[in-house]
Amino acid sequence: MMKFLTLSSGLLSLTAGVLADINYQIKGYNIHTGQEHPVSTHPITNISSSSFVASKSASVQARADISYSGNWCGASQNPPSGSSFTNVFGIWNVVSVSPRSGQADSDHPVLCQWVGIDGTGACDGLLQCGQFSQINDDGSQSNFAFWEYIPGPAMSIDNFPINAGDNVAGNVTVTSSTSGIMEVINYTTGLGVIVTVSGGGGTLCGQSAEWILEDPSSNGLLPFPNYNTATYFAASATMNNGASVGFDGSTDIYLVSNNSIVCQAAEDSNGNLVVTND
Ligand SMILES: *[C@@H]1O[C@H](CO)[C@@H](O)[C@H](O)[C@H]1NC(C)=O
Ligand SMILES: *[C@@H]1O[C@H](CO)[C@@H](O)[C@H](O)[C@H]1NC(C)=O
Ligand SMILES: *[C@@H]1O[C@H](CO)[C@@H](O)[C@H](O)[C@H]1NC(C)=O
Ligand SMILES: *[C@@H]1O[C@H](CO)[C@@H](O)[C@H](O)[C@H]1NC(C)=O
Repeated sequence: MMKFLTLSSGLLSLTAGVLADINYQIKGYNIHTGQEHPVSTHPITNISSSSFVASKSASVQARADISYSGNWCGASQNPPSGSSFTNVFGIWNVVSVSPRSGQADSDHPVLCQWVGIDGTGACDGLLQCGQFSQINDDGSQSNFAFWEYIPGPAMSIDNFPINAGDNVAGNVTVTSSTSGIMEVINYTTGLGVIVTVSGGGGTLCGQSAEWILEDPSSNGLLPFPNYNTATYFAASATMNNGASVGFDGSTDIYLVSNNSIVCQAAEDSNGNLVVTND
């Protein structure tokens, strides 16, 4: 058994004024030995001067089992009537990003990959974690893990390096309508980080679970890069009665930008979700 190692905790004051505070604790550890790995967290501010929000979907519109969104690509699940999701899990490859035609490195095209609970549906909260990948001025790619309890800001996780091509897992658990646990794991190094939150965010009711590649926003959508195919695997969304589902029966979400589809998602024959650049 691993010991619980509390490395830091704090009260987060938000500049956006949307909410008062989120209590959080963060700890990093080696998933095999339990040994402590020091990490810290701070609001993401360097990509834009305004607060940086991986937002709820701008416009998911149901149409059979495909929906179109202005900011999301991926899949979402809804629980059967009377049930709710308490956990979502998935592993994905961190994509390589490059500028689209007409974009410059200095536009800092950026996307994020994550899993979450309550991204769509009646409740205003969204608990999510994963990583951002962005292009820097010199054309290099920066990746950083993040967690977010909407409507709070996206929080970067420091001292937790991620490279394109790594396999990263996101594991989000809702423990009450105002609390939960987010975990990001790198299976290549065996490093994990766990963030426990309570209060200050929106209401969580477990009415959707999602596996997403997003065009993030900061006062409007940020430039969305090209990327290699992302595959989400080992996916599960677990309900309050213990039953779980994968991508079967999920809604695929396509990202539409400037009147064209820039990202599509589909299940492959292995039951994985394949998210392609268009
Ligand atoms: C923004 O911050 C992240 C981590 O905090 C870092 O990896 C990245 O290089 C920064 N981006 C720029 C453009 O400074
Ligand atoms: C994951 O493992 C790879 C390979 O060792 C390493 O380069 C990367 O920094 C690790 N990422 C995290 C988040 O630990
Ligand atoms: C996901 O997180 C929950 C809550 O911390 C934990 O009980 C569970 O074991 C984790 N799942 C995986 C696959 O790591
Ligand atoms: C859509 O058009 C806007 C404005 O011309 C541009 O900034 C943005 O990068 C375009 N999006 C994509 C995905 O090409």
